[in-house]
Amino acid sequence: MRGAAVLYRARDQGHISPMAILKIARMGHPVLRRPAQPVEDPTAPEVRRLVADMLETMEDAGGTGLAAPQVHVPLRLVIFFVSGDRSAREDEESLEVPLTVLVNPKLEPLGEDKVDGIEACLSLPGLAGRVPRFRALRYSGLDLEGNRIEREAEGFHARVVQHECDHLDGILYPQRMTDLSTLTFTTEFGKDPIPE
Ligand code: NI
Repeated sequence: MRGAAVLYRARDQGHISPMAILKIARMGHPVLRRPAQPVEDPTAPEVRRLVADMLETMEDAGGTGLAAPQVHVPLRLVIFFVSGDRSAREDEESLEVPLTVLVNPKLEPLGEDKVDGIEACLSLPGLAGRVPRFRALRYSGLDLEGNRIEREAEGFHARVVQHECDHLDGILYPQRMTDLSTLTFTTEFGKDPIPE
């Protein structure tokens, strides 16, 4: 559990450890290219602290999800949520998803169907692009109490899970794009919208 050990050592230097907004790794940083390591003990205090900091970082940055490698911690852990508003905006299949911490996730596509959708990523600030993803999948993993989570997801919910879990395998969304001409600075969106 090398990543957590590094994290724990860094945090152990002070007696007071309030939550912190962490620096987000950007495309090109090696931590985003390497496969992450499994979390050995999801109930460990340093894992709980990492998640608290990731939640604060995601909230500050306005993200929908965040993977541990994005905050320079090479562990297989993601957080995400889908608000009711966001779900309604993206598609009708996807429902509101409560804030979820998923440790050591496994994904299994349900069927071959893929759908296109626009994605952005906190590690590629200012950019968005059209990405095909499996329409439906089953995912499983552990929560911070070590309980097993198993869910089926469709639409935007399924997209978010695929995007976040790709980070654990060193994959960023442009590597999933089939038409790079749709990669766009979001400030240019109004001028020539990405064709759906
Ligand atoms: Ni991302």
